[in-house]
Order: sequence, then structure tokens, then C-alpha cells
Amino acid sequence: MTAARRARRNARADYSGFRVGAALETADGTIITGCNVENASYGLTMCAERVAMFKAISEGHKRFRRIAVVADTADPTPPCGACRQILWEFAGDIEVVMANLRRETARLRMKDLLPLPFDARLLK
Ligand code: THU
Repeated sequence: MTAARRARRNARADYSGFRVGAALETADGTIITGCNVENASYGLTMCAERVAMFKAISEGHKRFRRIAVVADTADPTPPCGACRQILWEFAGDIEVVMANLRRETARLRMKDLLPLPFDARLLK
């Protein structure tokens, strides 16, 4: 959560003003962070979770334990649908810890956030 809060400071949320940080823990304990990066074309915006996951994949990490997602909100900020699909693809049923700047707000597993996923098992 601390790493996600720190990464959140780098968010480029010039359009929404909604700054998000993420910290993905690999199986060997390495922490890879991400923040949301928005764009004037809006649609090219990338969420903090996907930035963290794509950074991790590009650095050769293959197994993951959990991800923390931090926003400055009283309610939990769960990963969006696109991020759930990407997290499921590369990390499977990891733990997702949601937090704000002071405390944890929710903790769920991916299988509960993305029931009945579409994934490679169905491409047969
Ligand atoms: N966002 C994230 O980075 N992660 C989430 O879990 C929710 C949404 C970003 C995308 C966009 O830059 C801003 O928050 C508002 O949707």
C-alpha cells in the first residue's frame, strides 16, 4: 500500500483529476508500481493496474501474489473491467487490496471480482 501511495504521486490525471497508484507484488517479493496516465484523446488513458502489470511483464516477471490499488476515496477503488481481464490473464486468482491514503478499504480475490472469466481455457 505504501508503494502504491508513492506511485500515485506520479499519476498524470490532468482530465479526471482522479489519481490512482498500484503496486504489484511478484512471487519473489519484487514490487512493481504503476500510476494512471491520461491523454487528451481520453481513450488512450491507461489505468495504474495495467501500467504495473505491463511493466512487470516487460521486465520478465511471470508469477504474482497480490496487487494494491490506492485512490483518495473513502470507498474502495476496484480495478475496472479491462484491468480485471488483464490481471486475470497474467496473474490469475491473486489478492486485490484496495486502500486510500490512510487505510485499507477492501480486500478481494480476482475470482470474486471477475466471476466466469473469458480466458485461454476457452480458446479450444
Ligand atoms: N483508474 C485507474 O487507474 N484504476 C482504477 O482502478 C480505476 C480508474 C483511472 C483511469 C482514469 O485515469 C481515472 O482513474 C478515472 O477513471
